[in-house]
Amino acid sequence: MAQIIWNESYSVNNADIDAQHKEWIAIYNRLDNILLTGSGDAVSRAATDALQAMQEYASYHFRQEEQYLREINYPDLVTHKRLHTDFDDQIYGYNRKIRSGEFVLNTEVISIIKTWLLHHILHEDQKYCAFVAQG
Ligand SMILES: [Fe+2]
Ligand SMILES: [Fe+2]
Repeated sequence: MAQIIWNESYSVNNADIDAQHKEWIAIYNRLDNILLTGSGDAVSRAATDALQAMQEYASYHFRQEEQYLREINYPDLVTHKRLHTDFDDQIYGYNRKIRSGEFVLNTEVISIIKTWLLHHILHEDQKYCAFVAQG
């Protein structure tokens, strides 16, 4: 996996939300880095902690973003919220399975998270950015 590097094309023209996306990406990069360091108990504990941190941060960010979407009267709030909930559920499920020993965090999971995160920031979040730009 490769690290995600934020650039201006990720911007949604809202400084607070951009900062949150950067933090979310930083957590992703940390997780990616941990898995690169190898395997073993210490690595898997660190990876589990990072995934937990992502679950918490993503859900914090989603709440903030949804609040912003209400403020701007975004017409597709319900659909957008559903995407957030899907991600929450997915990460929650991973965390639960990892803690119960049902599965081990691996690069395949990281790749799914990365794809989702990038698609969401670059396509889904850009839709409300375009809505605001339309005025
Ligand atoms: Fe977002
Ligand atoms: Fe979003």
